Amino acid sequence: MIAVFDRLTALSEPLRVRILRTLAREELAVGELARVLQTSQPTISRHLKQLDEGGWVLKRRAGTASYYRFANGDLDADARALWQVVVAPVDAADATSVYAEDLRRLDGVVAARTGDSEELFRRLGGRWDNVRKELFGENYVLPALLAMLPPGLTIADLGCGTGAMLPLLAPVAANRGPNGEPGVIGIDREDAMLDVARERTADLPNVVLRRGLLDALPLPNASVDLALCELVLHHVRELGPVFSEVARVLKPHGRWIVLDMVEHDRQDYADTMGHQHLGFSRAGMEALARGAGLGVQSWRVLPGDPLAQGPALFVSVLTRP
Ligand SMILES: C[S@@+](CC[C@H](N)C(=O)[O-])C[C@H]1O[C@@H](n2cnc3c(N)ncnc32)[C@H](O)[C@@H]1O
Repeated sequence: MIAVFDRLTALSEPLRVRILRTLAREELAVGELARVLQTSQPTISRHLKQLDEGGWVLKRRAGTASYYRFANGDLDADARALWQVVVAPVDAADATSVYAEDLRRLDGVVAARTGDSEELFRRLGGRWDNVRKELFGENYVLPALLAMLPPGLTIADLGCGTGAMLPLLAPVAANRGPNGEPGVIGIDREDAMLDVARERTADLPNVVLRRGLLDALPLPNASVDLALCELVLHHVRELGPVFSEVARVLKPHGRWIVLDMVEHDRQDYADTMGHQHLGFSRAGMEALARGAGLGVQSWRVLPGDPLAQGPALFVSVLTRP
């Protein structure tokens, strides 16, 4: 048969093209290729055999392992031209396509090799962020940062809603005390919210949930090291009594983290979602804190999220002297 038909046959199977494209970037063992292409090793071996017979790949033995790479330099001009025609649209495929994923996984598989890490990071350069996300996701970031908190804190999430923060706070908060004192207390006025929070925290022994109001907190005086109000204060019309209540339940030197919207002009939030305040300014926060004997330790506007549609957010740390 004329060689071009054999070559067309070899390149007619998308998986073989993905194998060659991957091997054009990195010499790999069969198992590594299988991981990059998320295919079984026998399937990869079968296609590699065909590519080997057609002269598309070069095989190198090292001990008991075999490594494959694309035989670019050994191909004749016709085969190279044909390869270019096939691989060009694959290289141009969308960033979300399986072809783009192959290369991201390739980075991950190479990164997972035990070897010379200096050489690895030199080669990966700016792509390390993608490799890290590919290998480990992003869920570890918040728990890792929360580990910076000193151990044994009693934390109150005021207006905890569905309790999204509670599983993050529980591992770094105090364990249950000898008399059953919780490490984390979630407080909200809505049963519907608390029901969801209860399910979410069912297997967290140091978390309790209480129904209550921000201006009449179901907490003893000076019992909380760290209070949190995340996206809650803009719902409360009279803020003076809330600030006084938080000052009452904080221990001396206790801290209150307030996260909310900076001042904005979206009046429709008041009409459709019952917002009582169109965000807050630093000066407004300081006046309220002063009235309750608290200090504003910091007030910082947070970087915007490109996918977010709401106003900018700030985080402020208030302290009880
Ligand atoms: C926008 S949600 C935020 C929930 C949660 N902190 C979060 O970030 O996902 C506001 C929550 O505050 C609660 N809330 C509003 N006013 C309250 C008040 N005066 N006392 C207690 N809870 C209140 C609501 O029931 C709701 O669950």
